[in-house]
Amino acid sequence: MALKTAFKRIVVLTGAGVSAESGMGTFRDKDGIWTKQSLEDVATPEGFARNPRLVHDFYNARRRALREAAPNSAHFALAKLEQSVRKAGGELMLVTQNVDNLHEKAGSNTLLHMHGELSRVMCASCGTKGAWDEDLFTDTECWRCGRLGALRPDVVWFGEAPYGIDDIYGRLASCDLFASIGTSGEVYPAASFVDEARTAGAHTVELNLEPSANARTFSEGRYGLATQIVDEWVTQVIQKIGV
Ligand code: OAD
Repeated sequence: MALKTAFKRIVVLTGAGVSAESGMGTFRDKDGIWTKQSLEDVATPEGFARNPRLVHDFYNARRRALREAAPNSAHFALAKLEQSVRKAGGELMLVTQNVDNLHEKAGSNTLLHMHGELSRVMCASCGTKGAWDEDLFTDTECWRCGRLGALRPDVVWFGEAPYGIDDIYGRLASCDLFASIGTSGEVYPAASFVDEARTAGAHTVELNLEPSANARTFSEGRYGLATQIVDEWVTQVIQKIGV
């Protein structure tokens, strides 16, 4: 489908599919992370209270994997789109559900990690937050309050409120293009963003390996590997913007 208008206010949502080809794994695909590990055990506050060691082992392994991971062409294309939109006097907000840092490594600046970040921790006791690239253990000491074992990954778990939601809904309410990339559409509130964008009158496009749970809600769908379809879509949007 041809893109109809010169977009000025863009919101892009990304999920695990955009980082799959960088080796970070997806959650719900065949062989996905949640087929091997119970999300109740490692992605809920109750799981952390029950067995913090299991939770630390899980995120320590993911944090180590992230050290080896590099952004792929989809991450780079989205960073290029942001620069082009800005050059044309428009705005792009990149909202990611991913806890990796591959968008920032690729050069994206206007980025919101709605599910938190693997390379940050927070203290469950005093609430302090900070950057953290090492392993966490059940006796790691909080640098602020001194409590042992209260530091946890600054990752939003099921039952917790995603970050930046008011900001995201504000942007969706006035966007003219919304793209959802590499996400299954199974997790709310992210899965409802397309409805907000449609209500705002935006063109909505899904780019994914296969149609997602809410594929029918989008004006347009493009299917294939992120490294193959995102760059092509970005090129078309940039041509439309005319920079
Ligand atoms: P999912 O694993 O649910 O979905 C990943 C989507 O990416 C699927 O629809 C795949 O078809 C697609 N995909 C896989 N490989 C791809 C590729 N190379 N190119 C393009 N698409 C590909 O991951 P998310 O939707 O991101 O939250 O999951 C949302 C949230 O659920 C995550 O942030 C995480 C998880 O539980 C928390 O842990 C709080």
